[in-house]
Amino acid sequence: MRFCRSISSLAVGAVQKEVDVVDAFCASGIRGIRYAKENSNVDSITFLDLEASAIKAAEKNSRSNGLGAEFKQGNISRLAFECATDFLEIDPFGTPSPYLVDGFRFFNPKKTAYLSVTATDVAVLCGAKTAPCLKNYHSKPLNNGFTHETGLRILIKRIAEVAAEFNMGIEPLVSFSDRHYLKTIMKATRGADLAFQSMKSLGHLHYCSKCGFRGHGRFPEPACRNCGHENDYAGPLWLGELHQKQFIESMGRLNQERQYSDKSEISGFLSLLENETGFPPYYYNVHQLSRFLGKGRIPKLGTIVERLDSKGYRTVRTHFSSTSIKTPAPYSEILEALEWKS
Ligand SMILES: C[S@@+](CC[C@H](N)C(=O)[O-])C[C@H]1O[C@@H](n2cnc3c(N)ncnc32)[C@H](O)[C@@H]1O
Ligand SMILES: [Zn+2]
Repeated sequence: MRFCRSISSLAVGAVQKEVDVVDAFCASGIRGIRYAKENSNVDSITFLDLEASAIKAAEKNSRSNGLGAEFKQGNISRLAFECATDFLEIDPFGTPSPYLVDGFRFFNPKKTAYLSVTATDVAVLCGAKTAPCLKNYHSKPLNNGFTHETGLRILIKRIAEVAAEFNMGIEPLVSFSDRHYLKTIMKATRGADLAFQSMKSLGHLHYCSKCGFRGHGRFPEPACRNCGHENDYAGPLWLGELHQKQFIESMGRLNQERQYSDKSEISGFLSLLENETGFPPYYYNVHQLSRFLGKGRIPKLGTIVERLDSKGYRTVRTHFSSTSIKTPAPYSEILEALEWKS
């Protein structure tokens, strides 16, 4: 999880205000220790964990890193009534869903706060089976060529719902899928109107398994606009932005100043994220699309991007998949670009 912790630590620094951090689910404490040591805007750090052995390890590791910190052993559901924070880290095993209500209690006196959530139940969010996702996230997933973005948007939706119950609106600052986990770091701001605005950013995706056409809206469309076949759907899910561009730019600047061993990988990754803002809430996997076209030979991704760009449709690569693009181009244009011989 080093890469995940590096990205998250850059996000803590990019908050650009003094923060009291709570690393709930701290285990060895490595995440919170990095946040505090790497970011001068961390005023204080508190480590929480259910296990006495974890708190003991976090204490030892903090001491050997010369870090002053607070330590609390116990269940987050109890500790939520004892601590307040501006930046909360929720990093359990599996789904974070049962801990979200507890999480928002930590923000109770605050007007704005930052929440960082990791979900390792990717198979649930990405729809290998529908029932666990309906149970844990109250949404229907879709297991198709753009499933990772759908899963991430379902996770954010679940957080937005809980935030709204606490009268807070959310703004995702950076959100991503990497290997076996999905992650989102967001700003939550108190206000009934803001909470309602977040609810208005929820909706559905519809998808035709016969021709690959996809779309989004408040409600799913029952029939495919391209071929008339019955649509499948996912949702409700978050249809707003996954990231805030200026926030990612700040993270990028901080990355340049730091000596992370994976600095260049992080830099490339942040550029992909930054470019994803302003696009529809799904991507196109060109390998999967070429199967719909019955094509053996697929043009290079760069060629497809150029072809769509030259027709006036801004097209970018996505961090979700190295064989996929994001574009507002009509489906017919995307398929035509795939047919194009380079
Ligand atoms: C995935 S690990 C955390 C990893 C750590 N954040 C890191 O970056 O290395 C999850 C931790 O959550 C703790 N935990 C599980 N349920 C908990 C609960 N209800 N309240 C507090 N801690 C809990 C476990 O003891 C475990 O140490
Ligand atoms: Zn269709």
